[in-house]
Amino acid sequence: MKLFQSNVATIWSDKTSIYSLAAKPLIFRLPPEGAHKAAETALGIPGIWNALRIANGANDNKLKTNIAGIELPTPIGMAAGFDKDCKVLGSVLNLGFGFTTGGTVTLSARPGNPKPRMIRLPEQKAVMNSLGFPGQGLEPAIKRLKKSQKYKSRVLISIAGTIDDEIFECLRRSQSLVSGIELNISSPNTAGLRIFHDPGRLRGLIEGLVAEKQVPLFVKLPPWPRNDENRYELLKLAATAVDAGVDGLVVANTHPIENTRLKVGRGGLSGAPLFEHTELMIADIQAQVRGQASIIACGGVSTAEHVWKLLASGASAVQLYTSFIYGGPGLPARINKRLSQMMNTAGITKITDITGEPPRI
Ligand SMILES: Cc1cc2nc3c(=O)[nH]c(=O)nc-3n(C[C@H](O)[C@H](O)[C@H](O)COP(=O)(O)O)c2cc1C
Repeated sequence: MKLFQSNVATIWSDKTSIYSLAAKPLIFRLPPEGAHKAAETALGIPGIWNALRIANGANDNKLKTNIAGIELPTPIGMAAGFDKDCKVLGSVLNLGFGFTTGGTVTLSARPGNPKPRMIRLPEQKAVMNSLGFPGQGLEPAIKRLKKSQKYKSRVLISIAGTIDDEIFECLRRSQSLVSGIELNISSPNTAGLRIFHDPGRLRGLIEGLVAEKQVPLFVKLPPWPRNDENRYELLKLAATAVDAGVDGLVVANTHPIENTRLKVGRGGLSGAPLFEHTELMIADIQAQVRGQASIIACGGVSTAEHVWKLLASGASAVQLYTSFIYGGPGLPARINKRLSQMMNTAGITKITDITGEPPRI
């Protein structure tokens, strides 16, 4: 058991927590997709992560939050894309995430784009990807969701498709197994999703989904630039989604980039360089929706200070992915604990009371 734990711990480069059981991290010696598979394999052995959950900082009453009526123990969530086929939902939660987003799941299995399609940029603590939804499709995800029902109250599923019928089918068949649906119209890597950037198409789709949904529906938006007319077009999408009846918005997906190191020449950037922009977008969206929908902030989040700033700007929760690649499995526990300490310093006992700049501790 000791040897096994040590192998698991080497998969991440985490030097500051109880998870750091080995000296030399293995993860950065593997190619990115290989490292991801190794992490998934490690998380696929639930016993270890289940045992570690007592130290994950998520049992602190102060951190409780609510997104569109979904009660969560902490506002820190795993973003879509890490657990594409819903294989490790419980283990991810046991690390200290308040919720996890399985998928993005598509109706049929897909091979994704040609490789290389995921590249680490360690100096920037960033990743470029052009994966294009490789996945096993809806059916295997449904089977796994059925086996993970004890976690249902903290699981969202991200769904996508290039025609409305595919998306409806994903919603109909998965919604009784999860606490919320995240509609992904914003991956920069899948030709065909952009049709839903047309406000008329988006409205039709969302109104149809709203008529059928039995759980809260979130829409994950593409990022918008700061100074561009595109900004108003994309902000209009948010207004359209809210007007059509969504319960929440996820702001935002990866930022489109062009880079010849990716086989298809372009993809999405994620990680640390996004944070500042995420903060600006949350301010924009807050001004736009004014409390009519819950906001989940996503992009470059890696510290409790980041979480504080985004919650203070109007988000009810955050999602992260890339910082978990660099920070390791102890990251959500560290963020939970530090956020709680910061709340103590500020003399507040509720997540909704977070305002202003993060206190220094
Ligand atoms: C390798 C990789 C795969 C991703 N796959 C998906 C996906 O399937 N669906 C989705 O909505 N977002 C996907 N994302 C985007 C993330 O959910 C998130 O929006 C983005 O990475 C910004 O957050 P971060 O900076 O914390 O990573 C993916 C991101 C990465 C790095």
